[in-house]
Amino acid sequence: MTDVVSLLAQIEDTGRDPRGPGYLRPGFSRVERELRDWFVAEAESRGLDVEVDQNGITWAWATPPGADAVVTGSHLDSVPGGGEFDGPLGVASALAAIDELRDSGRLARARRPLAIAVFPEEEGSRFGLSCLGSRLLTGAVGPKRALGLTDDRGDTFAEVLADHGLDPARVGRDEERLGRIGSFLELHVEQGVGLIDTDQPVAIGSSILGHGRWNVRFEGQGNHAGTTPMTRRADPVVAAARIVGDIPTIVSRFDGAVATVGRTRVHPGGTNVIASAVDLWLDIRHPDDEVVQDVLEEIAARARDRASGAGYRNQEVSLTVDQESYSPTTHFHGELTRRLSSLLPQAPLQSTGAGHDAGILAAHVPSAMLFVRNPTGVSHAPEEACEDDDARAGVRALADALAMELGVEEPAGEEAGAGGTEAGGPEVEGRR
Ligand code: GLV
Ligand code: MN
Ligand code: MN
Repeated sequence: MTDVVSLLAQIEDTGRDPRGPGYLRPGFSRVERELRDWFVAEAESRGLDVEVDQNGITWAWATPPGADAVVTGSHLDSVPGGGEFDGPLGVASALAAIDELRDSGRLARARRPLAIAVFPEEEGSRFGLSCLGSRLLTGAVGPKRALGLTDDRGDTFAEVLADHGLDPARVGRDEERLGRIGSFLELHVEQGVGLIDTDQPVAIGSSILGHGRWNVRFEGQGNHAGTTPMTRRADPVVAAARIVGDIPTIVSRFDGAVATVGRTRVHPGGTNVIASAVDLWLDIRHPDDEVVQDVLEEIAARARDRASGAGYRNQEVSLTVDQESYSPTTHFHGELTRRLSSLLPQAPLQSTGAGHDAGILAAHVPSAMLFVRNPTGVSHAPEEACEDDDARAGVRALADALAMELGVEEPAGEEAGAGGTEAGGPEVEGRR
């Protein structure tokens, strides 16, 4: 059996961000492929049967494939400058949990099939659409739209798929593979501070906030930085800067809402060039989907004012706002979550502000999540952390949860490691 900590150590140097600390592991990149090759080698060394499907999802079967399967897994791509654990912790823990199930004799007694799934482009950092693999699998995005998505270099998803040996004509909803999933359980590093002040290393997911991404584009008049008077400019950077400055005040009027501009692009992007256009990408989240819409409308209305205030006479700055994705508020499967709470009675229930493939799958199959404590509470940044012992506790919880779903409650000759009979722990305030 390989320890989850040493599994993660095997990939700790893969995809380090050359521009600074943290990782740069874009979806469908050479680095993500290297990580997938690592996963495939680890899975095959355990005798798992591996296939990469038409949507680029890697499946590793610990039993013969079949219907009503218990599936666990996560992703290996990262945001730019991302942490070590967002995604890989769930994948490495899945491998380690299978070791634990095998070593304890529980895998041999499984009453349902068991597989690991590794989803590509979960972060959407390359093609702009998060959870691209699970959205394709479930049909949450159609092939036409997905294939036309482009990355920063202008390469289409169709071209990149072909480079990866996948046939663009075959992407899309996969009834057969989706139909085989009986339940999906994703373990993930916690992405907030919820467990820091508790003595619990593991929490159970309750729900995911509604969240979406919008492209906000200001277009003005490109011109010369030296010869154009300040009064004769239609500068989209001015409008963009003003709306970014307005966002905290607008959002503060909506209790529990968060909105972020984490990526901007100035066209054409020269120090001595008044820009012709600016793209901002706006991320808005709230537990109530209608509030997300209200926040968006307020920001868009103010952005229109900011655009018109940044032009002069007949040189206007114009504005367009396009939705790139929306994932409604998702509640994990009630019955599966209750079973997890009975199995792990001390584990608090937590809502999360982060999106996950489990959230996409939840609309189609019973899905649930486990979160492992992050002592810094920081995520999507190099400071994201996970203590070794907490990672090991996560693996034990995952193995016990999988065993429960597989119909083998107890390790041969022992009591279930995390077992218990009380109801689940209390809901923790705030979000992870
Ligand atoms: C992914 O981690 C997201 O929440 O955007
Ligand atoms: Mn993640
Ligand atoms: Mn993430």
